[in-house]
Amino acid sequence: LIAFFQPKRLAGKKLLITAGPTFEPIDPVRGLSNRSSGKMGFAIARAAAEAGAEVTLVAGPVHLDTPRGVRRRIDVQTAQQMFDAVLPLAPQSDVFVATAAVADWRPAKVGEQKIKKDGSGRIPSFEMTENPDILATVAALPDRPLCVGFAAESEKLAEHARAKLERKKAALIVGNIGPATFGRDDNALLLVDANGERELPHNDKLSLARELIRDIATRLQ
Ligand code: CTP
Ligand code: CA
Repeated sequence: LIAFFQPKRLAGKKLLITAGPTFEPIDPVRGLSNRSSGKMGFAIARAAAEAGAEVTLVAGPVHLDTPRGVRRRIDVQTAQQMFDAVLPLAPQSDVFVATAAVADWRPAKVGEQKIKKDGSGRIPSFEMTENPDILATVAALPDRPLCVGFAAESEKLAEHARAKLERKKAALIVGNIGPATFGRDDNALLLVDANGERELPHNDKLSLARELIRDIATRLQ
C-alpha cells in the first residue's frame, strides 16, 4: 500500500541500475567474487519503479527476486558482461545508478579445465588484468545520463567518496556508512556531490532507496 502511494516523481524517466557482485572465473569450477548481496541495488530498482520510472536492472549473481514493476532484468556474471549489457542502454537512459560491486580485476587467463593439485605442493599463482570501469565509461559518454555511483570504504568515507566523484565525473556518489553493510537489510548513507555532503540516517534499505530516489528526481528537474 505504501508502495502504491509513492509520488510518481520519475514518471516517463528511464533508469538503468547495476546491482550485486560480479563473478570472475578462474577455471570451470572456481572464481573470484565478493560479498555484495545486491539488496541496496534491488531496493533502488523497486523504489524507482514505485516512482513511475521504466527500470532496467543489470544484476550480477544474486539470490533476489526481481522487484515488482521492474521492466527488464538482465543477469550477468562478469564485469565485462555487465559492461557489455550497460553500454548500449546508457545513452537512452535518464539516470544510471551503479550499485554493483564490480570486481576490479579478473584472472588474465581462464583455465579451460579445472586446475588440479599435482602432488608436489606447488601453489598456483594468477596474473590479473583490470576490468573496465563501467561508471566512469558511462559518465564520459557525450550523451550520458545522470550518473550516480556508490562507495564502500573501510576508512575516510567522505574523502574517498569525493575523490571518486571527481575521478569518475559522476553527479553523485553515495557512501555506505559502515561498518559492513553487506547482506544487511539496513544501512546509513552519505550523499556526496559537488555542493557538499548530506547524511541519510540509519534506516532499512527500502526507505533509504526511496529517499535516494527523491533526491535523484530533484536533480533531474
Ligand atoms: N564501478 C564500476 N565499474 C568498475 C568498478 C566500479 O561501475 N569496474 C562503480 C561501482 O558500481 C560504484 C563506483 O564505481 O558505483 C565505485 O566503486 P568502487 O569499487 O568503490 O571504486 P573503485 O573506483 O573501483 O575504487 P576502489 O575499489 O579502489 O575503492
Ligand atoms: Ca572497486
